[in-house]
Amino acid sequence: MTRPQHFGWFLARGFGPHGWGHPYLRWNHRWTEPGLYQDSARTLEQAGFDLLIIEDAPSLGSAETIDLRVRHAFGGPKHDPLLLAPYLFAATRHLGVVPTVNPAAYLPYTAARQFATLQHLSGHRLGLNVVTDTGSARHFSTAPQLGHDAAYDRAEEWVDGLRSLWRSWGDGALVEDEETGVYADGNLLTATSHRGEYFGFDGPLNAVPFTDGEPAIVSPGGSGRGLAFAGRNSDVQLALAPLDEQSIRAYRRRIHAAAEAAGRAPSDVKILFAIQPVLVSSPEEADRLVAASAHPDDAALLTIACKQSSDLETDLTGLDLDRPLDRAIFGEHVSEGSIRRLVGKHEPDAPLRAILASHARLGRLTDGSGFVGTASEFADRIEELGEWGNDGVLLWGDLHPVTVHRLLDDLVPILRRRGILREEYVDGGLGANLRAF
Ligand SMILES: Cc1cc2nc3c(=O)[nH]c(=O)nc-3n(C[C@H](O)[C@H](O)[C@H](O)COP(=O)(O)O)c2cc1C
Repeated sequence: MTRPQHFGWFLARGFGPHGWGHPYLRWNHRWTEPGLYQDSARTLEQAGFDLLIIEDAPSLGSAETIDLRVRHAFGGPKHDPLLLAPYLFAATRHLGVVPTVNPAAYLPYTAARQFATLQHLSGHRLGLNVVTDTGSARHFSTAPQLGHDAAYDRAEEWVDGLRSLWRSWGDGALVEDEETGVYADGNLLTATSHRGEYFGFDGPLNAVPFTDGEPAIVSPGGSGRGLAFAGRNSDVQLALAPLDEQSIRAYRRRIHAAAEAAGRAPSDVKILFAIQPVLVSSPEEADRLVAASAHPDDAALLTIACKQSSDLETDLTGLDLDRPLDRAIFGEHVSEGSIRRLVGKHEPDAPLRAILASHARLGRLTDGSGFVGTASEFADRIEELGEWGNDGVLLWGDLHPVTVHRLLDDLVPILRRRGILREEYVDGGLGANLRAF
C-alpha cells in the first residue's frame, strides 16, 4: 500500500552562481536576479512540493582559504536567502520557502519581527533552516567563537526567544472591532523579559499574532546534539544517511526518541532524507554512465579535489595523488565528521587517488550502489522508503529550470500515479501541508 510522502528541494549551494561551469548557463539566467528562482519555484509548486530550502553560509571562510571557495564558486559568493524569499512567495501560492538562518547573525527581537512579517506576507509559508555553523560568527561579533554544543545551546535559546515573542500576544489580544473602534487589547500582551546566557531582550513583539501557526523550524544537524535539537524544536529534520532499511529506521528512531524526550509526538517532526539522483532515460544509459565513471582520469579527480577543498577549506589540489592523505593537513576548523565523509571506508594508508576516485564514481539505483537510474527506478526507491515509514525526501541540486525539469518531468507523473506525491495542497500554509499526512 503506497502512502503519500513530502517532497522538498534543497538549493544546495545557496543563493549564488550555482551551476557555475555547466553549459546550461547559456540560457541567460542571472543568478543575482529573482526570475530564475521564481520560474523554478513555480515548477516545484506545480509538482506538489512542500518546500524549497535555500542553503546558506554567510561567510567566505578564513582569509587564507577564500580562493578555494570562490575560484570555482563552490563556496561563494552567496547572497542573503532571506531577502530572496519574498520574491518566491510573490511567484507562488502554496510552496513553503525556507531560507537558512544562523542564530549568530540575528538578534532574537529583530528575527522574530522580520520572520513574523514574512510569515504574514506569505500566507504562513515561511520556514527557517536553523544552522549552527560557528566559523562565521566572527562576522557578527568579536565574542569568542562558541564550541559545537554551545552553538546548539545558543540556537535553542534563540528559538525559544522567538517563540516567546511570537506568543507575546495572548488569545483575544487582537480585537479588530470596528463598532467599538478597539483594535487591540494591550492588557493581553505579555511584556516578556528575557535575560539568558546568550541573549537579553524585552517584549512584547510589535507584530500581530499568526492565524495559521508559526514559521516552521527546519534543522539539518546530524550529531547527537543536533538530533536532540530537532526532537525538541523542529517541524522538519533534514537527514543524510545511507538509504538502507536499517539506517533509515535507526535514524527515525533516534529523532522520535528525542521528540518524545521533549514531550512531543514523533509525528510532529517530519524527516526528509536528502538524495541527489541522476536520472536518465533508460537502464542501458544508466549502466553506460556508471561504467564510464569507474576509472576517473586525473582531470575528474582534480574537479573532486577542488570541490572538497572548498567545502573543507583545506587545499587538496596540490597534493600527490599517489601518496596517503596526511590528516595533519586539516586545521582545527575542519570537523571530524567532514573528514570521515571525505575518507569513507578507506584505510589510513590509502592513496589520495583512491579516496577522490570513490567520490567520482557513480552507482546504480537498482543495486543500491548509487543514484543513477530512470525515473521509474527512482520512484521504486522512494516507494520502498515509504514502506519503511519514511516521511519524505529532499532532492538536492541547483535551481536552474534545466535541472529542475530534468529531474521532475518524468518523475512527477509516476509518483502521482502511485499516490506518493500530493495532487493538491490544503489551505493554511506550510505547517498545514506538513501536517496533512
Ligand atoms: C541536508 C543538509 C543541509 C545543510 N544545510 C546547511 C546550510 O545551509 N548551512 C550550514 O551552515 N550548514 C548546513 N548543514 C550543516 C549543519 O547545519 C550542521 O552545521 C552540520 O551538520 C554539523 O552539525 P552536526 O554536528 O549536528 O551534524 C546542512 C546539513 C545537511 C545534512
